[in-house]
Amino acid sequence: AEPLRSLLLSRIADVPDYPKPGVVFKDITPLLADAKAFGALTDALAELCQRYHADKVVGLEARGFILAAPVAVRAGLGFVPVRKAGKLPGATLAQSYDLEYGSAEIEIHADALRPGDRVLVIDDVLATGGTAEASLQLIRRTGAAVAGVAVLLELGFLPGRERLEKALAGAPLETL
Ligand code: PRP
Ligand code: HPA
Repeated sequence: AEPLRSLLLSRIADVPDYPKPGVVFKDITPLLADAKAFGALTDALAELCQRYHADKVVGLEARGFILAAPVAVRAGLGFVPVRKAGKLPGATLAQSYDLEYGSAEIEIHADALRPGDRVLVIDDVLATGGTAEASLQLIRRTGAAVAGVAVLLELGFLPGRERLEKALAGAPLETL
């Protein structure tokens, strides 16, 4: 796991003062542009699908889609999007969550998951944990079970992991 971790870290760029002064943004586009790193990440996430007996992969808009879609194909599983409000055409379940200033809302198609499904949730970055927490609430409302949450990167100076603990209800949170 150590060589994987080093490879991934070497392909994540620090962008100072984005999106605002004082913030150092973790940019994953160099990793996506590197076939070896993106392939290794995809393989590692597909292995987590197996380890946790997932039968569906949920990706969180937008960067979560980029990571989760190839994992679903690699693992031989279906892909289900969690989208920002207003983007899904069918009947949806919605969940709002607090941001630093204001709030945001995400949705899932109400019939995309059903009781008995086991879902691995994939995103690029866990920051405050608000997005992931709201996603887990949505998934549970469909009746599906959470097999786990997997992210590329966890911002360890933010309490995302703590915020997610209750919603995880014992399911694993894996950071690559
Ligand atoms: C980012 C990131 C995660 C989320 C993490 O997405 O990709 O989804 O924020 O933050 P949190 O843990 O504090 O909720 P963003 O909303 O910027 O959307 P994007 O992927 O569409 O750029
Ligand atoms: N990088 C990418 N996505 C993010 C970040 C970051 O530093 N913080 C919150 N979402």
